Amino acid sequence: MSAKVELHLHLEGAAPPDLIRQLAGEKKIDLTGVFAEDGGFATGDFQRFLKVYEAASSVLTTPEDYARLTRAVLERQRDHGVIYGEVFASPQLAAKNDMAAWRDHVDAVREAADGVDGIEWRMIPTCVRHFGPDDAKGAARCAAETAGSFVTGWGMGGDEGAGKPGDFAWSFDCAREAGLGITVHSGEFGGPQSVRDALDDLRPARIGHGVRAIEDLALVDRLAEDGVVLEVCPGSNVYLGVFDRLRAHPIEDLRRRGVRVTVSTDDPPFFRTNMTAEYEALHEAFDWDDGVFHEINRTAARAAFCDEATRAGLLKKLEAAWTT
Ligand code: ADE
Ligand code: ZN
Repeated sequence: MSAKVELHLHLEGAAPPDLIRQLAGEKKIDLTGVFAEDGGFATGDFQRFLKVYEAASSVLTTPEDYARLTRAVLERQRDHGVIYGEVFASPQLAAKNDMAAWRDHVDAVREAADGVDGIEWRMIPTCVRHFGPDDAKGAARCAAETAGSFVTGWGMGGDEGAGKPGDFAWSFDCAREAGLGITVHSGEFGGPQSVRDALDDLRPARIGHGVRAIEDLALVDRLAEDGVVLEVCPGSNVYLGVFDRLRAHPIEDLRRRGVRVTVSTDDPPFFRTNMTAEYEALHEAFDWDDGVFHEINRTAARAAFCDEATRAGLLKKLEAAWTT
């Protein structure tokens, strides 16, 4: 169980199905269609996933819900060797862009995270692309107001087919001016042009997924030369059908071409995955050894939206974990 750094995890998307079921029962919320026969979340294509995700998230409403969620997610992540994680959460979901509610949620997550030993967390507020640019502005204001040692980044997820990255430039500029690190989902369901637009218009340090950049080798060279870090989620991509199997996934090709890749789980219960399973599958598919895993974790630590003392501590722990 070697030490891992995970940069791409959605807090609401990491909710254990049992917790969502329990909260729905307590609040008498009807979640018809959210669960599959095996008790996990219902499955399907990306659009269906987004619908199930939003329905499941609707039971998370109070700071106490977020505290429970945080403890459950952190403990699971730690069980899979994660020593440092960054977690996306959207001010547009439970808080509905209300600043006071968002502050309470952030405080609840931070306090709950402080109470779990052996893993450290930072929070990345994200806007939901298909809710549109105006709603994203409210989320960016929430992010900027809470920016600090715990809220350290800003991102965008949701339907990559909705609008253009440039539509969201105001929100990204607002977050950047508040000192937040910038990441954006791109190149998951959108092709290379979607990634180019995100790079040109939003200037991210990191890209969520980015894997379809492989369809344009000039773009791959640009990513490598500019040191843009990809938050790759191989299991998520295979589950949602971006690639039909892990051996067809471009993560190894991108890495060999000099792109800085990292590995994360995205929404683990939805995609029936966890960090242990991801690492085992990568070892099987591409023969990755401890040297490669050390490299991708070093890349993740260097790209983490954290202070320099935290980064130095992480690099030290990774060295000890992967080289002995
Ligand atoms: N939100 C949660 N998971 C996502 C994904 N895989 N792509 C885009 N938005 C998301
Ligand atoms: Zn994601």
